[in-house]
Amino acid sequence: MKRDNFGSKLGILAAAAGSAVGLGNIWKFPYITGENGGAAFILVYLFCIVLVGMPIMLTEFSLGRKTQKNAVGTYKELEPNKPWYLSGVLGVFTSFIILSFYAVIAGWIFSYIASAASGELTQIEPQQLGGYFESINSGVIRPIFWTFAVIALTATIVILGIKTGIEKCSKVLMPVLVLLLGVLIVRSVTLDGASKGLEFLFKPDFSKLTKEGILEALGHSFYSLSLGMAIIMTYGSYINKKENLLKLAFQVTIADTVIALMAGMVIFPAVFAYGLEPTSGPGLIFITLPAVFAAMPLGRFFATLFFVLIAIAAITSTISLMEVVVAFVTEQFNVGRKKATIGIALAVFIISIVNNMSMGPWGGIKLFGMNIFDFLDFLTSKILLPVGGVLVCVFAGWVWGTKNIIKEIESDGLYPFKWARTCSFLIKYLAPLAIIIIFINSTEVLSYFKKGTDSNMVYFLGSLVVFMVALILLKSKRRVFSSEDK
Ligand code: PHE
Repeated sequence: MKRDNFGSKLGILAAAAGSAVGLGNIWKFPYITGENGGAAFILVYLFCIVLVGMPIMLTEFSLGRKTQKNAVGTYKELEPNKPWYLSGVLGVFTSFIILSFYAVIAGWIFSYIASAASGELTQIEPQQLGGYFESINSGVIRPIFWTFAVIALTATIVILGIKTGIEKCSKVLMPVLVLLLGVLIVRSVTLDGASKGLEFLFKPDFSKLTKEGILEALGHSFYSLSLGMAIIMTYGSYINKKENLLKLAFQVTIADTVIALMAGMVIFPAVFAYGLEPTSGPGLIFITLPAVFAAMPLGRFFATLFFVLIAIAAITSTISLMEVVVAFVTEQFNVGRKKATIGIALAVFIISIVNNMSMGPWGGIKLFGMNIFDFLDFLTSKILLPVGGVLVCVFAGWVWGTKNIIKEIESDGLYPFKWARTCSFLIKYLAPLAIIIIFINSTEVLSYFKKGTDSNMVYFLGSLVVFMVALILLKSKRRVFSSEDK
């Protein structure tokens, strides 16, 4: 079977940046920035992006491009007959699960577009917006319908393939996204009292920065760049050998960061101008912002634009999540692209229904004290992503060898890489260490050992994963702890 490839530089950039720029940038980044004190948090975030995010992105791109295979195929080719391919399976699994709830959140966004465009949203009284949001996410028919729409749209683009589906669509949608952001920034910063919002975003106050804030920044840098779940690896496999990977990773990282900051410049000036709280957490865009739109002239129009903007960001991310799974199924099981995509979309839809129901009628079903939606979110973002990230670093840095990564980044000498040694150091030591710290902190895995008999299963789950990783490492019988590169 001939493999599809990206057709142009701009196309690769649009697709990879499209994956990176998502709900994480426009929904999550502003609210965690709001909760953690604004500019000081952003500075820490920038450090994390440069020291941890970029090196891992480069690693994933090189692994994929080296083999031109899906994630599982990549590990199988580089370390045949070793259990490393399980790391690829983990990435595919993580993408699949994330897709099943990412599509649900994207569904709420679609539903908000409909109600913003019809004028319904901006007519709701501010005190009632919380209840309105809850009626959407705990409903049954409406959210399931919109989730289905998101999955169907995603599958349609993925079926069309890399060049005619993902690349073409990203090349159109990403510029539209930037344009919409531009229009909304102009609207927001010209409101009376907007400057307080800009100050909040750009003037650092380090007294507000906590240890949790720093760890949140580190974790988010990872999520925001779509790392640790084989996405960038899979996209890397469609890039030709002459492409400059360093430049690409740099551009994707810059685009992701700039767009997150632009989203902040839309949200905070408007929130401050209307005297609302920047710290309202996940409800910031669903509850606080609609009140802002309702109060501004032409609010219905701007509200619609805003939710279209987030929908675009979400769709370019859902296609990357689905592509990871589709690439795996088509190549490892020799199934046609269309058949594989439809099957996967159906499976994702079924799990997304469970996710939807778990916020409404099935809210009573708890896994480790969380409803199913929250559990899957916890499992992926706090456990599977960090584990995936560490495995990529360990594999690339200690098993396949940083020399090979550098060779791939340099396209066999075509683009000499000045910071090769620094980059190798970051991949081998700093990045995995940083991720292990987030992991330990967010799963509180240590307190399981301290308290011994603590009944909270989350601790147990955390330690189980550590055990699994150790097992993979040991079974692979590689020179993991010697510095000798292949
Ligand atoms: N990077 C995307 C964002 O910022 C999130 C994402 C995570 C996309 C995982 C795909 C996979 O929202």
